Amino acid sequence: MKINLVIASDHGGYALKKEVVSFLKTNPDLYQVDDLGCDSENSVDYPDFALQVAQKISDKKADYGILICGTGVGMAITANKIKGVRASSIIDLYTARMAREHNNLNVLCLAGRILTPASAIEIVKTFLNTSFAGGRHQKRLDKITKLEN
Ligand code: RB5
Repeated sequence: MKINLVIASDHGGYALKKEVVSFLKTNPDLYQVDDLGCDSENSVDYPDFALQVAQKISDKKADYGILICGTGVGMAITANKIKGVRASSIIDLYTARMAREHNNLNVLCLAGRILTPASAIEIVKTFLNTSFAGGRHQKRLDKITKLEN
């Protein structure tokens, strides 16, 4: 079954977004990707783009979101305001794996001004190929969900 992804960036993540989208589009049997912008390196406000992706995840319109800004931090702060979203800026493979196994991360935030395209794509692959472990970790996520309600 294809993984449905929704992706967006601000100007700080635009160049890296192009690389990530191009990687995802070279694997059309595995990934379906919806690119919600931005469309250039002209300055925009990251919360506008984070909100669009986070809302799609919250509404279960896509399996995972990817958000890219300069550091991934502003995108993660914004996306985490939306119900059901678990977002974090990820800059290494160990955290990418743990964020799926333990935290069931559903919005991957990347740092366009830190990561090389190759390292970002490795992080995306690890994120997409790692399953949530459930069990004791689900109990902890349930406690986080309670905070939203
Ligand atoms: C934009 O200059 C920059 O602040 C943004 O891309 C991001 O890094 C915010 O967290």
